[in-house]
Amino acid sequence: MASAPTILVFDSGLGGLTVFREVAKARPDVRFVYAADDAFFPYGRHDEPVLIARVLEVMEQLIAAHRPDLVVVACNTASTLVLPQLRARFTVPFVGTVPAIKPACAGSRSKLVSVLGTVATVRRDYTRTLIRDFARGCTVKLVGSPRLAELAEAALKGEPVADAEIAAEIAPCFAEGKAARTDTIVLACTHYPLLLDRLRRLAPWPVDFVDPAPAIARRVLDLLGPPASDKSPAPPRTVFTSGRAPAAPLAAALARLGFAETAPAGV
Ligand code: DGL
Repeated sequence: MASAPTILVFDSGLGGLTVFREVAKARPDVRFVYAADDAFFPYGRHDEPVLIARVLEVMEQLIAAHRPDLVVVACNTASTLVLPQLRARFTVPFVGTVPAIKPACAGSRSKLVSVLGTVATVRRDYTRTLIRDFARGCTVKLVGSPRLAELAEAALKGEPVADAEIAAEIAPCFAEGKAARTDTIVLACTHYPLLLDRLRRLAPWPVDFVDPAPAIARRVLDLLGPPASDKSPAPPRTVFTSGRAPAAPLAAALARLGFAETAPAGV
């Protein structure tokens, strides 16, 4: 039997786990390496040239060390900036994560859609082009959240995060006119689905939160084909660029996702 392919899932931190869990459901028979560039987290705070250089450098090391058959860039902040450079530099196929504006606008009934992402993602030309091409008559509000990725990460690590802090970050997404109000919010940062239950509870009215992870899993299946078996060849591995060991609550969250070895490892 041919040996199992390897998928590298890459993010600035732990948000890419929301993509990993969908891809792992779709291809349980694959070896996974989950790489978090936590030494450089959050990506949303870095200038574009600095971030491009950083992602290329880390990716070079990860590809040399793990020889993946496919890389999922599970980060909107990186994908909306550096996918063309990654594809030009490396031969391995890349699946990016970009704001799900097209399906969100296609599904909105009120035609009021918000895109919630990092401040960097909502500023990108790439995001603005998606709106220009796919808004389909919707009014699309861009909301750059300065803190939500860090709050999601803190919550996953078991640190206390007050409802009021989350509510303040999402409040600008909710627009209400005379006849209509926002009915769809694009989660344009992979960290945000980590907080989905709380986002739903804290929303001033019910909306559809659009998580791109299932679409990314389908794209992976398009490129790699269907699973050859439902058995995992090996537990997924984590790589933290900081070399810091995950604290107990995070190690427990990783164990729930099937990660066996959560000791820090270099790239
Ligand atoms: N998870 C990342 C994203 O999808 C961003 C968080 C950050 O590093 O700022 O955009």
